[in-house]
Amino acid sequence: MIRVRQLTKSYGSNMVLRGIDLDVPAGEFVVILGQSGAGKSTFLRCLNQLVTGDADELQVAGLDARQAKNKQQLRRQVAMIFQHHHLVPRLSVLKNVLTGRLGALSTLTSILQLFRSDDVALAHDCLNRVGLAEKADARSDSLSGGQMQRVGIARALAQCPQIILADEPVASLDPQSARKVLQCLRDVTHELGITVVCNLHQVEYAREFGDRIVGLAHGRLVFDSRDGALSDADLKRIYPEPEATTPTSPSFVPSPALIRTTAAGAV
Ligand SMILES: Nc1ncnc2c1ncn2[C@@H]1O[C@H](COP(=O)(O)OP(=O)(O)OP(=O)(O)O)[C@@H](O)[C@H]1O
Ligand SMILES: [Mg+2]
Repeated sequence: MIRVRQLTKSYGSNMVLRGIDLDVPAGEFVVILGQSGAGKSTFLRCLNQLVTGDADELQVAGLDARQAKNKQQLRRQVAMIFQHHHLVPRLSVLKNVLTGRLGALSTLTSILQLFRSDDVALAHDCLNRVGLAEKADARSDSLSGGQMQRVGIARALAQCPQIILADEPVASLDPQSARKVLQCLRDVTHELGITVVCNLHQVEYAREFGDRIVGLAHGRLVFDSRDGALSDADLKRIYPEPEATTPTSPSFVPSPALIRTTAAGAV
């Protein structure tokens, strides 16, 4: 479903991705770990061409993502979920889910928001899958943060994508809501055979929900495992001391104490 060879990306003199190779088969739930500035978001953005890197190969959902002519089809096949769900607050939950269909509609239809009955039925089905069927008519801003994020998942599902890229989807949620959202994302995507690449900061969630854990450090893929085991040495590789020459954003560098705490399950 995803095949990446020697993907590099620089911002000016800052080389953010330094030759990533990765193959992801259909239906796999891949969690990417790495400290702040490791290149996780940039990697996801390269996959759906929100930013353009250089690569020997960049196959995404059966498309050569490097070809500009494939951009629109790529956006249809690849849904994004972000830390902030970007729902339209005054619209109903159902209407927000229906916005996931907009990319598949003609311009006029999408401007007028003339949704077909089968689109509406699909949106209800997606809400049902994330356990929010009864909230269809509620205003989005009446939901909890975790519920909003599940609406975001339903909206992504309504796009009928082959791939979902999730960039820290639970970063602003309490542990209980975060687990519920990740479980929901994993379960529905497994049921539907959707491939997921999900950036996370919590090692314990990666162990709990990932079919596979990939570690990025300073723009390099330094860890890749499907057995869920992460030793202290693995964690040191994924969360190394900052390189003096590599600018990193200061927002989040887990301390060894936090890594031990999350590894013990108390997040
Ligand atoms: N649009 C941009 N312009 C310039 N530099 C950027 C841009 N986006 C990201 N960078 C830089 O690229 C590097 C990697 O950033 P990226 O956002 O991919 O890291 P990340 O692993 O997602 O970090 P975080 O965990 O904080 O979200 C950082 O040094 C960042 O400052
Ligand atoms: Mg990021």
